[in-house]
Amino acid sequence: MCNYCGCQDMTLIRDYYAEHNATRDLADTIRRQMDDGHYAQARDGIGRLLVELEGHWAGEEGGLFAVMVDRYPEDFADYISPLIEEHRALAAFLRTLDVTDAGQRRAFAEQVLELHEHMLREEDSLFPASVVTFDGDDWTRAIAGWQQAHPGLELIPD
Ligand SMILES: [Fe+2]
Ligand SMILES: [Fe+2]
Repeated sequence: MCNYCGCQDMTLIRDYYAEHNATRDLADTIRRQMDDGHYAQARDGIGRLLVELEGHWAGEEGGLFAVMVDRYPEDFADYISPLIEEHRALAAFLRTLDVTDAGQRRAFAEQVLELHEHMLREEDSLFPASVVTFDGDDWTRAIAGWQQAHPGLELIPD
């Protein structure tokens, strides 16, 4: 987690961090449920995790990422495109995951570690970069993209 540049003071970035923490915690809980043989609970959790991640990804891709790629393509496009591919790959994996299959449970545990690493790449590089790069219009657009992905919700208030 980035604790250096003050990016967590930005409303949108703070929300992305909160979404990361919530989905990481849920993924870790599911992994433990699988380890304990609680497969029905784990299956329910996978459904919730997929919904939460899809919302988070839509908020990133339609918000911060879209502005970064559109406005500063030479700086960010190559960094962001693999992140988006990883979103799609994890969604596809979760959609077909059979929690009763030992091999797939092991694959899920690996995916959780990769998700942690994916989020660190966003937290340590991308989010701080946006803070030093964006102007007011960029933030307005990024927040509008997030809002479109989360109808009826509000960003965490100051
Ligand atoms: Fe992401
Ligand atoms: Fe993310």
